[in-house]
Amino acid sequence: MNKIRLGVNIDHVATVRNARGEAYPSPLKAALLAQKSGADSVTIHLREDRRHINDKDLKQINTKLKIPLNLEIAATKEMLKIALKSKPPFICIVPEKRKEITTEGGLNLSYKKAFLLKMIKKLKKNGSRISLFIEPSKKDIKESKYLQVDCIEIHTGKFCNLVNQNKNFKKEIKRIKTAVNLGNSLGLEVHAGHGLTYKSAKILSSVKGIKEFNIGHFLIGDSIFIGLKNSINKFKKIIK
Ligand code: PXP
Repeated sequence: MNKIRLGVNIDHVATVRNARGEAYPSPLKAALLAQKSGADSVTIHLREDRRHINDKDLKQINTKLKIPLNLEIAATKEMLKIALKSKPPFICIVPEKRKEITTEGGLNLSYKKAFLLKMIKKLKKNGSRISLFIEPSKKDIKESKYLQVDCIEIHTGKFCNLVNQNKNFKKEIKRIKTAVNLGNSLGLEVHAGHGLTYKSAKILSSVKGIKEFNIGHFLIGDSIFIGLKNSINKFKKIIK
């Protein structure tokens, strides 16, 4: 059985840095420590408003990191240009709304479809592995196949909210399982992410067929108390 990979999202190291406009804590240092601590990849989201990761962080991390960098970007001309230039090994295309606190849902694949098709084609030709961040919906998975991506990442936000609120998550985990099976049957590599904690990651790791988890906010938050190495190791043990 293939092991499940852990992608560590370090955006919120930059959030803390930017809160005071200082040069610390360093996202590059966090990326290299995540690498040393067993992360399989490092994720950063270069937002249009640069609220956390900025262009300099991308350049530094992309140059120094030895494990794959997973760059999350919105489907815009600006981000396409940046991604083509920086050629990260992995790219995940995500929705972005200026006023949202975090990525609130999966991509709307019917919107800007022609641009998405062109963007995916160019990025794949440029050598990056392409993923789409989508809801666990059959329609979006079939649409992702049509768009010829390598992978899909299932948005686990709704499931995680239910777990956090001690509510019944059976229906949502069933929806995720169906989505994972459909994705795999269409030859798409399936990933999962958003809002995962130790508890929700443990429950979700029982779903067969997910190849990669991308985890950030909770993991970085817990590293304040137990250290980045330990929070990464805890997640690695849970999802293995
Ligand atoms: N995966 C994707 C595509 C994301 O955009 C994010 C961050 O919003 C995550 C995973 C990580 O989510 P979190 O920080 O809630 O763990």
